[in-house]
Amino acid sequence: MSEKIYVFDTTLRDGEQVPGCQLNIDEKIMIAKELDKLGVDIIEAGFPVSSPGDFRAVEAIAKAVENATVCGLTRAVKKDIEVAAEALKPARRPRIHTGIGSSDTHIKYKFNSTREDILQRAIDAVKYAKTFVEDVEFYAEDAGRADLEFLARLTEAVISAGATVVNLPDTTGYLLPHQMHSRISYLMNHVPNVDKAILSMHNHNDLGLATANTIAGITAGARQVEVTINGIGERAGNTSLEEVAMILKLHKDLGLHTDIKSEMLAPLSKLVSSTMRMPVQANKAIVGRNAFAHSSGIHQDGFLKHAETYEIMTPQEVGVDKSDIILTARSGRHALKHRLSLLGFELEKEELDSTYQRFLVLADEIKEVNDGHLVDLMKLAV
Ligand code: KIV
Ligand code: ZN
Repeated sequence: MSEKIYVFDTTLRDGEQVPGCQLNIDEKIMIAKELDKLGVDIIEAGFPVSSPGDFRAVEAIAKAVENATVCGLTRAVKKDIEVAAEALKPARRPRIHTGIGSSDTHIKYKFNSTREDILQRAIDAVKYAKTFVEDVEFYAEDAGRADLEFLARLTEAVISAGATVVNLPDTTGYLLPHQMHSRISYLMNHVPNVDKAILSMHNHNDLGLATANTIAGITAGARQVEVTINGIGERAGNTSLEEVAMILKLHKDLGLHTDIKSEMLAPLSKLVSSTMRMPVQANKAIVGRNAFAHSSGIHQDGFLKHAETYEIMTPQEVGVDKSDIILTARSGRHALKHRLSLLGFELEKEELDSTYQRFLVLADEIKEVNDGHLVDLMKLAV
């Protein structure tokens, strides 16, 4: 039996914190509705106390979203919790996400405090949030660098205080996947009431390991992933939703699944990229422009014989129309013949050989040869 992994999308909160990516309320509502259709379980709509605009956005999203839980971020501060609870009032399923730094670095430099004081503030924040909503998630900021025994005590304490989800963020993107796996395994085995809550993965991508760490965490027992479309987020970004969704879809052997409708991934990636003015790198997994583009002769030949030689998923599964064969000076005869045939030119071997030589000269000169160039090349041959 496959177990469900809850998808918590934070595109509109951690993603929207990125300089230049700010959205207006209508854009936020539009993206929230698309995320709801995509099948995410929780939408983190914003940080209501941060500004009147963010408050209004969270409130409007809480009204607009039909299925997903709508969540608002707070610090472990009474005022933040009250404001979040107010903004979330219209939500069918509201969640307050409250928390505090858990590593000694955060405790010392951010809070000028002690572990014991942080533990008490965490308990108080969860208990206070519980007076407004049933569903309270606690985040132990910088859990990736926190002392593990202290993290276990903190986790146990906030669960006893009523937290339904405990988020263990690798805020600085520091951990390696095997370390994440062993830390989550430790918590699963040493926190006596761990079965009363869901552990959550919220990983940043400073070393390019956010997705790998998230997968490591869920294979050790975490059951929620905090992700963003296109991996957008603070600094090097957050774990990318599309990567986690497709990893779980392809690796059925993990026995874990999400309810994400994968055919919506590429269209939603484009929508988020254009609305947030944040281009997606061409080689980005799943949704980058080159994710289904084949450009070397060896790959093109194999792909044309059977797509599975170089593709582990179909483009249609993620909402891309078709794979691309890019014609360059690295392409072979097979790809050229195929493209010419699509354009209505059926060439015999000798004609193909001579056309191929002319094609190579052109490709060396202009780098990428498109259909218009090929038609011109064939006209010149007449
Ligand atoms: O990265 C982080 O630790 C966060 C928390 C506020 C959840 O974004
Ligand atoms: Zn974060």
